[in-house]
Amino acid sequence: MIVINKEHRVFTLHTKNTTYQMKADRHNVLIHTYYGPRVGDCDLSYLVRYADRACAPNPHEAGTDRTYSLDTLPQEYSTCGVGDFRLPSIEVEYPDGSRVADLRLTGWKVERGKYELDGLPFFRGTEGAETLRITLEDPAADLAVELAYGVFEDCDLITRSVQVRNCGSAPVRLRQCASLCLDFQRSDLDLITFDGCHMMERAPSRAPLRSGVQGVGSVRGTSSHQHNPFVVLCDREANENYGLCYGTMLLYSGNFQAQAEASQYDNVRLVMGINPYQFCWTLEPDATFTAPEAALVCSPSGLGQMSRQFHRAIREHLIQDPLRGARRPVLINNWEATYFSFDAEKLADIAKTAAPLGIELFVMDDGWFGKRDDDNSGLGDWVVNHSKLPGGLEALVPRLKELGMSFGIWIEPEMVSEDSDLYREHPDWALRIPGRVPARGRNQLVLDFSRPEVRRRVYGQIKAVLASADVSYVKWDMNRSLSDVWSAALPPQRQGEVFHRYVLGVYEMLDQLRRDFPHILIEGCAGGGGRFDAGMLYYTPQIWCSDNTDAIDRLRIQYGTSFGYPVSAMGAHVSVVPNEENGRITPMETRGVVAMSGTFGYEMDLSAVPQEEQAIIRRQTAFFKEHYDLIQQGDYYRLTDPFQNGPYTAWEQVSPDRREALVSLVFTSLRAAQPFRTLRLKGLDPQQTYQVNGGGSWPGDVLMAAGYPLPMLSGDYQSLQLYLRAL
Ligand code: DGJ
Repeated sequence: MIVINKEHRVFTLHTKNTTYQMKADRHNVLIHTYYGPRVGDCDLSYLVRYADRACAPNPHEAGTDRTYSLDTLPQEYSTCGVGDFRLPSIEVEYPDGSRVADLRLTGWKVERGKYELDGLPFFRGTEGAETLRITLEDPAADLAVELAYGVFEDCDLITRSVQVRNCGSAPVRLRQCASLCLDFQRSDLDLITFDGCHMMERAPSRAPLRSGVQGVGSVRGTSSHQHNPFVVLCDREANENYGLCYGTMLLYSGNFQAQAEASQYDNVRLVMGINPYQFCWTLEPDATFTAPEAALVCSPSGLGQMSRQFHRAIREHLIQDPLRGARRPVLINNWEATYFSFDAEKLADIAKTAAPLGIELFVMDDGWFGKRDDDNSGLGDWVVNHSKLPGGLEALVPRLKELGMSFGIWIEPEMVSEDSDLYREHPDWALRIPGRVPARGRNQLVLDFSRPEVRRRVYGQIKAVLASADVSYVKWDMNRSLSDVWSAALPPQRQGEVFHRYVLGVYEMLDQLRRDFPHILIEGCAGGGGRFDAGMLYYTPQIWCSDNTDAIDRLRIQYGTSFGYPVSAMGAHVSVVPNEENGRITPMETRGVVAMSGTFGYEMDLSAVPQEEQAIIRRQTAFFKEHYDLIQQGDYYRLTDPFQNGPYTAWEQVSPDRREALVSLVFTSLRAAQPFRTLRLKGLDPQQTYQVNGGGSWPGDVLMAAGYPLPMLSGDYQSLQLYLRAL
């Protein structure tokens, strides 16, 4: 609900459990007054106090009032060059070389429904969602900034987007345009970021804010394996169940920056948006620039609730129809089974074993096109290799259909191999800086996706392949970072636009693909989880979480990922042991327990799997399908933190009506003389009695307060699942 006090120009956004407020002050500066647990409609600007702070400049219109300074006030969208020395949100370069932005409120309006963005991902509003648009203008320049706020009451989500318009008659250059600025009048907060590397993505890293600027970002052209465009600020004592937590998520898949600055008077400013690194966008007269959307969730009751609100918002408001809520198939992917060495017969062999085990979708990974027998050639030539697949997809797909399986295919549209027809024809289509030889990554170059003709050519070929057979899934991969970023299609003064135009180009092609083939489920991937962000999720409802398929490492990866993203977004597969990445041996049961808390699949040569293991797989797929809604749509509770090196890692899904729950637990270290262990559950209905695995039953309050006694298991990496049903 949006409430506006016109007289005092107070703008209050209420969600079910939270309130967000801003106010235009006497100099028309939009100050941020509050974000926290839901309160009434009162003007909270009494929280903003004024004092004469030496060295803090005072705007001219404040006259001799030395207590009024932009450098100390909590701002809704911070400016630069006019007396606020903390993190700026926007920086504009004018023809005279000045780099400045001063913004004052000039108007506002409320709209029913949630605003939408053109060419960028966004949370989609259903009935009940509302939009507040606030216009700020620079009194000394012809520049207008519109701040848009989307309010989703049901999941405590507030979205923000920013549009900058050049209202003058000369071009200006935008050097920074953040999506989110959030000021706090306190600094006793912890910052949590999600960091890692290829094969170990999104490990939470938590530290108290210290004085100065701290943060994360990416300059790799993708959101990256190294840091995620999702960060949390929370009370120092906040944990899963307790404390005020602010989750902030950027819907963007390219260079981003999230910085928190604890400043001199114990204030904190969080700024998040496109990374200003090499960014410079020319705004012609009348042109506008739209920053990517940012989304905020404030949870007054801990990190667990914050995550559950994001999960719900992503499932219900970000994933687009017709795939929103659509059941995802259990899949078999041939990558770790065959790598590049396969033909139609090999694939058919795997499929023949997979289908009777309950696997529904066959995914043909890298190696089916052009000249592609290893990763040194072929990218860019999206034509079926008929010596591997005689008769093309037209011949292969019906064979899979006869087995009752649907078909999916791997692509990597953004890349080109130097050994490819595309590159021989258009060497200038790869990103490269004149006079320099571009760096290779996985022996491939990056196509200049900022150019429509490049996208058209690649998409044309891919579309023909997809149209040649009944394809129900596409894995969109991307296996290197962007370097040598320069576009032959843009003049020198616009080279600062290439990184962002590249991302817009990727989004445009994804959107085209979605519109042409709305029923196709697209899974995102970037060398595993190198582009796991809410921007991609808008187009690709699931993303391959990591190239690391070891069940024990995955406990950590999926745990970290779960802070922002739902189970239904996390691609997770069972693969062979010893694991190909780290050599670890884990039981098949455990690999299944971990992978089914994601979009479930297998990635191994099933035709070589012994009968006993096949029987386990059959049980796993049946169990997953039986409890699909609970696993994929249930409320997710982290019961332990795998980074604490405890004896086991446990998590739980609870159905929205709390009549069912599934607890999954993996023992990560066992010792002799095991202590008796009891696991306390969460999220149950205290009034209900639950039967566990069809056996004994206990009241919900007891299972939550006193716990469930864990059996003593022996052997490495054992696991168990407890299915609870209310009697
Ligand atoms: C990287 C992906 O993460 C893998 O799953 C696989 O698709 C390979 N690329 C194929 O080249």
